[in-house]
Amino acid sequence: MKVLVIGGAGYIGSHAVYELIRDNHEVVVMDNLSTGDETFIPKGVKFYFGDITKREDLSKIFETECAIKPFDVVMHFAAKLIVPESMSKPLEYYHNNVEGVRLMLEVMTEHNIKNVVFSSTAAVYGNPVKTLCEEDDITIPVNPYGASKLASENMIKWVCNAYKMNYCIFRYFNVAGADKSLEIGLKKDNLTHLIPITVQTALGIRDKMIVFGDDYDTVDGTCVRDYIHVSDLAHAHVLGAKYILNNNESVLLNLGSNEGYSVKQIIDEVSKYAKVNYEVGPRREGDPASLIASNTKAKEILGWIPQNGLSDIIKSDMEYRKKISNE
Ligand code: UFG
Repeated sequence: MKVLVIGGAGYIGSHAVYELIRDNHEVVVMDNLSTGDETFIPKGVKFYFGDITKREDLSKIFETECAIKPFDVVMHFAAKLIVPESMSKPLEYYHNNVEGVRLMLEVMTEHNIKNVVFSSTAAVYGNPVKTLCEEDDITIPVNPYGASKLASENMIKWVCNAYKMNYCIFRYFNVAGADKSLEIGLKKDNLTHLIPITVQTALGIRDKMIVFGDDYDTVDGTCVRDYIHVSDLAHAHVLGAKYILNNNESVLLNLGSNEGYSVKQIIDEVSKYAKVNYEVGPRREGDPASLIASNTKAKEILGWIPQNGLSDIIKSDMEYRKKISNE
């Protein structure tokens, strides 16, 4: 396959690029490097600096590349994804996450590109009514991030219906860990995600961490999430792209593990390596109490089987954080 990876220098996008290359596909990356890192793009992969919210950037890539050979698939990773930030900057989230997708689809239709793989999120479910979220459950997001992703999902469905295109929409649960090469991982100055923050605290990079609320209706009062290794998630994208291309049909799938862990359970797991100093603080705005995926559909349709459990994810994040702290 020839695949355009939009956001391919970012955390999840770069892992998808690695998995595509391992499966021998031709990859072109577009990224505005706002959160991405150019050193994450493997040698030999063509890179275009560009912004998904700028039509001219998208047009340039499609015109240049499709004249050589049209893309079989476009993968979208170029989203803003921090739940608390979305609460204070909803317009930025709608602009980047919805207008960006609209432009991408418009340029895809102009160049007759028929297959799109889209990164959506468990945040579309809001406060789930059931313990395990299934793909046809009701979607009532409780933050602008989830709302922006749901708006894009719907747009993609309508556009694919109108232009006889195929989509593979993945609803990610909580992604963590790093590629086995340790060349790529979640590398940011202002981390907000639980696993890297807990690992940094264990490694002494932070003095302490805050648990955002312990009065939720969960096993120990702290929020429950479903954690998935980034390489398992990235591998699903290769399977999903092949599936829609070969079967000429669309799919919407959760990517998670069927298991939930509370914030305190994550701290306990990381504490097996070193002490984690924490304090309990107030709830964080926009946090649902529990989000766990049913991944039955992804297993059945794609034959996808996550290879890494929670301890692998934590070990992987820890190895990566040790490596980058020595750079
Ligand atoms: N948390 C803390 N302390 C911290 C950081 C996080 O207690 O220092 C808690 C949060 O309050 C939350 C849980 O840990 O209850 C997980 O928070 P993250 O920030 O790691 O992740 P989110 O669940 O907010 O969001 C992530 C992705 C979203 C995705 C969502 C789906 O960022 O893109 O998972 O489950 F939609």
